Amino acid sequence: MDRKERENEAFDIPVAERKYLKKTSLNFNQIIILILPIFLFLFSIAGLRLNRNTKLTTAENIKIQNSEDFDQSILGHLPYNEISKENLVVIEPNIEVHIDMRESLLRMREDAKKDGVLLVFLSGFRSINLQEEIFYSLKSVRNQVAAERARVSAPPGYSEHSTGFAIDIGDFYKRETDFEVEFENTDAFIWLKKNAAKYHFKLSFNKNNKNVDYEPWHWRYEGSIEALKVFEASNRKSKNTNK
Ligand code: DAL
Ligand code: ZN
Repeated sequence: MDRKERENEAFDIPVAERKYLKKTSLNFNQIIILILPIFLFLFSIAGLRLNRNTKLTTAENIKIQNSEDFDQSILGHLPYNEISKENLVVIEPNIEVHIDMRESLLRMREDAKKDGVLLVFLSGFRSINLQEEIFYSLKSVRNQVAAERARVSAPPGYSEHSTGFAIDIGDFYKRETDFEVEFENTDAFIWLKKNAAKYHFKLSFNKNNKNVDYEPWHWRYEGSIEALKVFEASNRKSKNTNK
């Protein structure tokens, strides 16, 4: 071995070799880091949708009704959104009402009873679907055009009953006057006319309405801010048209 070869051998230092191992699986932390943003994204979308659905009523009722420059009524009825289920309470079989008015309504019935007057609840909350059935099926049975039908029944999406704040009332002793103008001659109506305001109930369709017939049995509750907001446009309209 000559000198040159010996020098090369002396400096033959092993070089570190980087080896790339093929990875076939991710560890747990890596999986979490990858899928967490996807879950967060999906949850926030679901949360937004749920929030929107549960809050639909008051805010949207106000928004659709409070446009000063655009009368959104159809055939004399203003639009109303359907109250969400969680705000409804069953007060007796087949009668659901907005939870805000439950106590006042039951107290009114109790106090009327003390005066010898028995109030009967005929209809409370009605879904928009039910209102659609009522409006269209009865219209065809009675051979009436929409404008005629709307004198006695609101089109779907336009009934106070869908807000949960409306109640139709009859007289236990005069059931033949249920949903009839003759109800105004019953003790129940006379009592209501004198006392209903104490319990924050107001007659919705009085005698002088232009498009909707007089309904002495149909009362609405205005005893909470939410209820007042829902009926704000209707009250403003009544004031302006001096109904
Ligand atoms: N009878 C009233 C107008 C309604 O259907 O809401
Ligand atoms: Zn009614």
